[in-house]
Amino acid sequence: MTVLDGRVTIITGAGRGLGKSIAEQMAHAGSSVAVGDLDIQAAEEAATELAGQGVAAKPYRVDVSDPRSVEACFAAVVADFGRLDVVVNNAGVSFVGPHITDTDDEAWNRTIGVMQSGVFYCMRAAAKYFLPQRSGAIVNISSIRGFSASPGRVAYCAAKAAVLMMTQVAAGEWAPYGVRCNAIAPGVQKTPMWDQDVAAGVCDEEKVLAVTPAGRLGRPEEVGKLAVFLASDDAAFINGSCVTIDGGLTSVPIDGAITRPE
Ligand SMILES: NC(=O)c1ccc[n+]([C@@H]2O[C@H](COP(=O)([O-])OP(=O)(O)OC[C@H]3O[C@@H](n4cnc5c(N)ncnc54)[C@H](O)[C@@H]3O)[C@@H](O)[C@H]2O)c1
Repeated sequence: MTVLDGRVTIITGAGRGLGKSIAEQMAHAGSSVAVGDLDIQAAEEAATELAGQGVAAKPYRVDVSDPRSVEACFAAVVADFGRLDVVVNNAGVSFVGPHITDTDDEAWNRTIGVMQSGVFYCMRAAAKYFLPQRSGAIVNISSIRGFSASPGRVAYCAAKAAVLMMTQVAAGEWAPYGVRCNAIAPGVQKTPMWDQDVAAGVCDEEKVLAVTPAGRLGRPEEVGKLAVFLASDDAAFINGSCVTIDGGLTSVPIDGAITRPE
């Protein structure tokens, strides 16, 4: 018996990166998984991989920035699996720089559309199933950038901050219905998004490692295990919280003064 036995989980942006790891951990915890992604090929590959491990996993094409696409995806998952218990709002895009004054409308709208409106659309869609059944758990993937600013990322930071507040509003509204909503704020994680930003020269891995007390980047499976805990009944009294998982990155002074053992 594992903590999510018999549950059905939708994970958005699960074709790769953190979302894929979260899907794997949810599956290992006993849940059936709906692998949602804009990139249907990536979703199919991830679902096939999971199915090969004996897990009930199906791919779904979803654009979280489009409310109709979200509604259709959630309805298809419930039709296929017969129920819905957990939603992990993970899909994301990364625009780093230029400055606020140069951030064009496309970058702003796409970022807010996927990571703020998209989370809202998925929360609202989940509530249609969760509130009547008087159960359900939402895990929103925010970021340390939701409370610790990063120049060059105005839209990203704004969206991630909004996710934290939407998480709290939902918790207050839905706790009486037995529905929980929590957030995770990862620090820097080794994913395709991070590797692309490093390759593009907009992020510096060596600098990040130097100012991270843990001395390493986060491992996607660590976020996955945290998401499983927050989704499970073990976290039944945790609602409206944000758990930071950053190796201590946001707990040191900005000059990065870290005393390391010999
Ligand atoms: N990597 C990090 O260091 C880090 C740190 C903090 C928070 N996060 C957050 O974690 C989440 C996952 O990040 P990642 O590093 O795995 O990114 P990633 O780019 O590796 O994966 C993101 C996935 O989301 C999908 N996606 C993009 N737009 C979509 C849309 N409109 N609808 C559905 N799916 C869509 C992509 O196709 C991709 O599969 C994001 O919300 C990101 O902001 C990442």
